[in-house]
Amino acid sequence: MFERLEPLPPDAIIGIMALFRQDKDPNKVDLSVGVYQDEHGHTPVPECVRRAEHEILEAQTTKTYVGIAGNMDFNLGMENLLFGPAHPAIRDGRVTTLQSPGGSGGLCVAGHLLRRANPDTRIWLSDPSWPNHLPLLRLAGLRLELYPYYSREDHAIDFDAMLHCLEQLDAGEVLLLHGCCHNPCGADLSQDHWLKLAELCERRGVIPFIDLAYQGLSEGLEQDAYGVRLMAERVPELVVVASCSKNLGLYRERVGAVSVVSSSGARAKVVASNLANVARGIYSMPPDHGAAIAGYIMQNEELRSLWVQELDVMRHRLNSLRVLLVGKLKERGSPMDFSFIARERGMFSFLGLEKDLVVELREKFHVYMVESSRINIAGINRSNVDYVADSIVSILS
Ligand code: LMR
Repeated sequence: MFERLEPLPPDAIIGIMALFRQDKDPNKVDLSVGVYQDEHGHTPVPECVRRAEHEILEAQTTKTYVGIAGNMDFNLGMENLLFGPAHPAIRDGRVTTLQSPGGSGGLCVAGHLLRRANPDTRIWLSDPSWPNHLPLLRLAGLRLELYPYYSREDHAIDFDAMLHCLEQLDAGEVLLLHGCCHNPCGADLSQDHWLKLAELCERRGVIPFIDLAYQGLSEGLEQDAYGVRLMAERVPELVVVASCSKNLGLYRERVGAVSVVSSSGARAKVVASNLANVARGIYSMPPDHGAAIAGYIMQNEELRSLWVQELDVMRHRLNSLRVLLVGKLKERGSPMDFSFIARERGMFSFLGLEKDLVVELREKFHVYMVESSRINIAGINRSNVDYVADSIVSILS
């Protein structure tokens, strides 16, 4: 029966990561997969995670299952992180949260929930969006549409085009937004944009679905939740999927959450039972370890403040690398103006190069990025930035 299957190309992001690992060149630079790297090109385990992990393992007496909804300390911690502890939606019992295997597992569960709630609904994604949003949400059986978001000519959000398109959405359609650190373009919605989108969703009955995979890496943990908190005040129903891969460095532990805001406490209970039923039908129960660490940190004052400090270091490093790269490219008389990179946030920016130039950078200079020319800013460091800038300017000249 497997003769019926067609061979498929490697994943757009993970495939490049695999190519990088095979490359033996000493100058190779990995700007592909969205993983934070320090000045030595290493992806560290944060100190707050090390300490929490140690304490958890010392105290652990069993490996029996966690429940279907996962670790309750973690779920509560995530709700506070996303909505703020005093948010009216939490106070009114309208929020329900389920721990998921990574942000991707959360997207999958949320996708199935949405399709179950309304099989005809359409979900609108930004053009461009994280490449895996499309197959993942399609597998959940949702109908996908794109709305204009990033202008490749202006290297900025085309908010007029976005709003114009979204004005056609009907009540019950779903609008996927990146909470911060837009993946892949790094161009984030301003507070004014969020206000306008909240007004549109409220007026047209559109359901916002916010993917918040990088909370803390744009402006700070609280600031990056602005869109989520605003939407939760303005609309009766909202879906948020969050990940702790990047902000806690827990990538391989697969730590994520789906939070759903419903119109009433009674509805929230119905949603919770459906979330649990969907999760049980896909993977039964989530893994324990990563969420136990994240939940422990969120509930422990000392570890939480250590986390905030470590996150500040990561964020400042990303922002200073943006400025450094732009400066290095300018110094070399780059024919292209890359100053937009310093205005963007999070791990990613598009260089704005055609695919053949991206391939040339890879094959000639061993500088790896996603074929859309998305770079992971964290892959740059003070030892490779001159080489990266030289390589980019060389292929442009
Ligand atoms: C990325 O966009 O590079 C990350 O979110 C990792 C992934 O799974 O694609």
